[in-house]
Amino acid sequence: MLKVTIDDIPVEVPEGTTILQAARMIGGDIVPPAMCYHSKLKTSGGYCRTCIVKVEQGSAKDPRPMPKPVASCRTTVMDGMVVRNITSPENLEARAGVVEFLLLNHPLDCPVCDQAGECHLQDLSYENGKAETRYDFDKREYEPTDIGDKIKLHMNRCILCYRCVKVADQLTDGRCHGVINRGEAAEISTYIEKAIDNDFSGNMIDVCPVGALTDKTFRFKSRVWYTNPVDAHRNCDKCCGKVRLWNQGEEVLRVTARKDEFGEVMDNEDGSTAWICNECRYDKKNLSDWTIEGPAKINRHSVISANHYDTLKNIQKTTIKMMGSKPHGVKSELGAGPLDPNNQ
Ligand code: SF4
Ligand code: FES
Repeated sequence: MLKVTIDDIPVEVPEGTTILQAARMIGGDIVPPAMCYHSKLKTSGGYCRTCIVKVEQGSAKDPRPMPKPVASCRTTVMDGMVVRNITSPENLEARAGVVEFLLLNHPLDCPVCDQAGECHLQDLSYENGKAETRYDFDKREYEPTDIGDKIKLHMNRCILCYRCVKVADQLTDGRCHGVINRGEAAEISTYIEKAIDNDFSGNMIDVCPVGALTDKTFRFKSRVWYTNPVDAHRNCDKCCGKVRLWNQGEEVLRVTARKDEFGEVMDNEDGSTAWICNECRYDKKNLSDWTIEGPAKINRHSVISANHYDTLKNIQKTTIKMMGSKPHGVKSELGAGPLDPNNQ
């Protein structure tokens, strides 16, 4: 086992563990945000840089600091490593710069975006963003397009995290979707107007951290915070059949995979990932299709979990216990945020 310290909290982890995974083992506020890494998708991570941390001491053998912030999702821990995330003002400043870059081309259309309330970029910019931009150029603009009969692509909102490409590559046969062009001209596209049509293609919607890929059967039906999420299951011969239903009264507005506190699709009991098929996602919209297990626990900083005061209290307790005060820089300029119970 290797010993690593993250924001003054020691933890022992097996060899090969990344800094991000080690931080997730500790949990709480010190976990770096991750927009492109998804633990259930191989080779994900390394694209967005939101997970950067400061390595103050490389290892016990070689205590020199790393000269630049490193992507915690791609950097494995060394024995004796000392890492700083929220206890480093420089690191928070660097992350604010990353957020500013991610928002260069991202429209501020949250009031009409279906992802509002469960958008990782919305959370990230609220917690790490700045009130204004220094970018004087026009944002890139694309017309929304249909990629498949159930998926709408809003390329304006895409942050090129590649998660949907990994889903297409790892979960579906005969991938016909990916990133074309490079640099400023890079965009998600289907190969020569082919449509995505595969039993597991809907999982792209679940991994998209922003509102670039949305479910056409749910678009504009409701805001997520007006729905009642419940966990439910059915016998399905294609997938695990374990889903989350987003209901309004008796009406099932949307079916998604179940996600954990990091916004990632959860595991089944056997350790496999609980991806769901398109039949469960799009064709089973009656309550009678499902066995309801009970209210879903949404354990994220989001308006959906706005009334889950227990989680908020625990986060506050961890911060105060480990750091003796509020994290450096957090909310100093932005006022009260989601960690402040008075703001709920
Ligand atoms: S469409 Fe969504 S999942 Fe795909 S690259 Fe863009 S932001 Fe990532
Ligand atoms: S989450 Fe680590 S680089 Fe994107």
